[in-house]
Amino acid sequence: MSQAPTRADFDQYMVPNYAPQRAIPVRGEGSRLWDQEGREYIDFAGGIAVNGLGHCHPVLVEALTTQANKLWHLANVYTNEPALALARSLVERTFADKVYLCSSGGEANEAALKLARRWAHDHHGEHKHRIVSFSQSFHGRTFFTVSVGGQPKYSQGFGPVPGGIVHGQFNDLDSVRNLIDDDTCAVMVEPMQGEGGVIPADPAFLQGLRDLCDAFDALLIFDEVQTGAGRTGSLYAYQQYGVTPDILTSAKALGGGFPVGAMLTTDRVAPAMAIGTHGSTYGGNPLASAVALAAVGFIDTPEVLEGVKRRHDLFREHLETINRQHGVFKEIRGMGLLIGAEMAPEYEGRAKDILPLALEEGLMALIAGPNVLRMAPSLVIPEADIAEGMARLERAVARLVAGQ
Ligand SMILES: Cc1ncc(COP(=O)(O)O)c(C=O)c1O
Repeated sequence: MSQAPTRADFDQYMVPNYAPQRAIPVRGEGSRLWDQEGREYIDFAGGIAVNGLGHCHPVLVEALTTQANKLWHLANVYTNEPALALARSLVERTFADKVYLCSSGGEANEAALKLARRWAHDHHGEHKHRIVSFSQSFHGRTFFTVSVGGQPKYSQGFGPVPGGIVHGQFNDLDSVRNLIDDDTCAVMVEPMQGEGGVIPADPAFLQGLRDLCDAFDALLIFDEVQTGAGRTGSLYAYQQYGVTPDILTSAKALGGGFPVGAMLTTDRVAPAMAIGTHGSTYGGNPLASAVALAAVGFIDTPEVLEGVKRRHDLFREHLETINRQHGVFKEIRGMGLLIGAEMAPEYEGRAKDILPLALEEGLMALIAGPNVLRMAPSLVIPEADIAEGMARLERAVARLVAGQ
């Protein structure tokens, strides 16, 4: 190829399932990115909560390049040192006794759901297969995970969905009491709904789910794909809630931008995933595992995790200042560096209109549904970048208000 690819190549060569912005970033460093034209952006999007340490963090570059010069891939006919070290590190840092490695959040959740069904099948019989999840939840794009996810727009139009899945209301324990029974094998929940609008679970709700699962011998699955790997100010959000799941899934910031996923579980549950029940060619890939090992080790320190909480306060203060000036937000919420600003009634559904304006001002941000502006920046974003990014956001919001 003689010329640099352009945005027009997307429309010509790529399946049209995405609608990317016009600008094509070509380089990143920390919380800044530069596009083909050399325009600079501050990154509050973090690759949708993936770039936990920003772009090209030296610790991750070192881990990746060192491993790249040693061994790239084996598949699971052999095990490898980085995968074993990552599994041990995750076990030592969490409730888990056993780890299954894969390459994405959807895959980690697929494994969790299959494990739950298989465990219940083996211990109780065929009848115990029902899964309770929640409206507005998001668990990935495989057919099982879109069916368990609570957003029908992602599961409809593909033929019959897998059966035995019911949806309760998030933060409404009574809705779960009405659904759960002896046939329930698992309850799957995000401790803070991400795609569904950045909505933290009430502590009593998660504890109530734990109690209901115990009462019906169902497994509690926490999807921490978005909330995990330091995002909320603890390595995993469950550690702040003090409610321990039977299965936890992690991806996104676990690899800091390198595709990796993990399913964590206990010695009570893991044996149901016996030899041959499940697998993935790339699961435990040495490159992915080496990067994730470095990311987890760097993030799970008081310095980084306290820094996340401090930055949360800064984000909130800036957003409140913008809101005092322009009155566009109804509520600012979230935990750690997963922050949502819900639009005020006059701007209902217009969070998405902020994104192109912000981009023109040199800021990348996200939405969580049409009504919530979402931010998921690097966990170590410099305070100067927060201030500059917020100045750019203020200009974008001012333009929204002025109708430009
Ligand atoms: C809570 C949650 N679970 C699962 C997924 C799916 O992860 P992936 O896109 O890596 O398959 C996402 C992605 O946004 C997510 O936010």
